[in-house]
Amino acid sequence: MSCLAVEGVTKSFGGLRAVDKVSFAIDDGELVGLIGPNGSGKTTLLNVVSGYERPDAGRVLLEGQPIHDRKPEQIAQAGLLRMFQLTRVFRRMSTVDNLLATGRALGLTHAQAAARAGQLLAELALERVRDLDAGQLSGGQQKLLEFGCCFMVPPRIALLDEPFAAVHPTMKEIMAGYIRVRHAEGQTFFIVSHDMPVIVELCTRTVCMNAGVVIADEETRAVLNDPVVIEAYLGGEAA
Ligand SMILES: Nc1ncnc2c1ncn2[C@@H]1O[C@H](COP(=O)(O)OP(=O)(O)OP(=O)(O)O)[C@@H](O)[C@H]1O
Ligand SMILES: [Mg+2]
Repeated sequence: MSCLAVEGVTKSFGGLRAVDKVSFAIDDGELVGLIGPNGSGKTTLLNVVSGYERPDAGRVLLEGQPIHDRKPEQIAQAGLLRMFQLTRVFRRMSTVDNLLATGRALGLTHAQAAARAGQLLAELALERVRDLDAGQLSGGQQKLLEFGCCFMVPPRIALLDEPFAAVHPTMKEIMAGYIRVRHAEGQTFFIVSHDMPVIVELCTRTVCMNAGVVIADEETRAVLNDPVVIEAYLGGEAA
């Protein structure tokens, strides 16, 4: 059984098919990349998978259980956690309280959440800002914090939407390092990124979307060298 299965998912906005009959599956322990030109439907796909949008057609299964009719909180509690392209943290809560609130929402006791938060603050180099309001952190630190929230309880799968965009290289390396270590321990990931060097380094397999459709899904280097993929990017830039 796959960790995540997306079966014939379609999502339209008015006349625009942002996601068009998309199907793929991710096995437990896989680290899969998702690439595609701007506007190709990557975020919309993540929104459907994580319950923020309802699909017009198709199904999403987490460990074999249909989740496309559940609310985002229920899907998170079932073990699918995500990070947003536009960072979402509680800006008026401290860094550590953001982590604690997430842990509590996911069923940890206060003591468990505090222990886990302490660990993550150290691993993500956020100890020095633990008591600052999240709104006072740099954009990169906010991304690191949102990233940390995804791992308060090790998820069945982590969906990350452009975690490295506009992030200082030091923080990017902290996040990439954390992903590498967790992946080696068996954590499953699905990562959207325009940063091809990072995708090549981290992901063994990559899915490429263009205009709502999956145009490639295979070993990362093969995807990046696929003429259809190259054409999609060049076509996108010229448009
Ligand atoms: N809520 C919405 N209402 C109307 N159109 C939308 C909505 N969300 C997305 N779209 C459109 O759907 C298409 C896919 O957008 P989406 O954000 O999923 O692309 P993306 O691949 O994540 O792009 P990027 O790489 O720029 O983040 C775009 O044409 C976008 O304008
Ligand atoms: Mg996007």
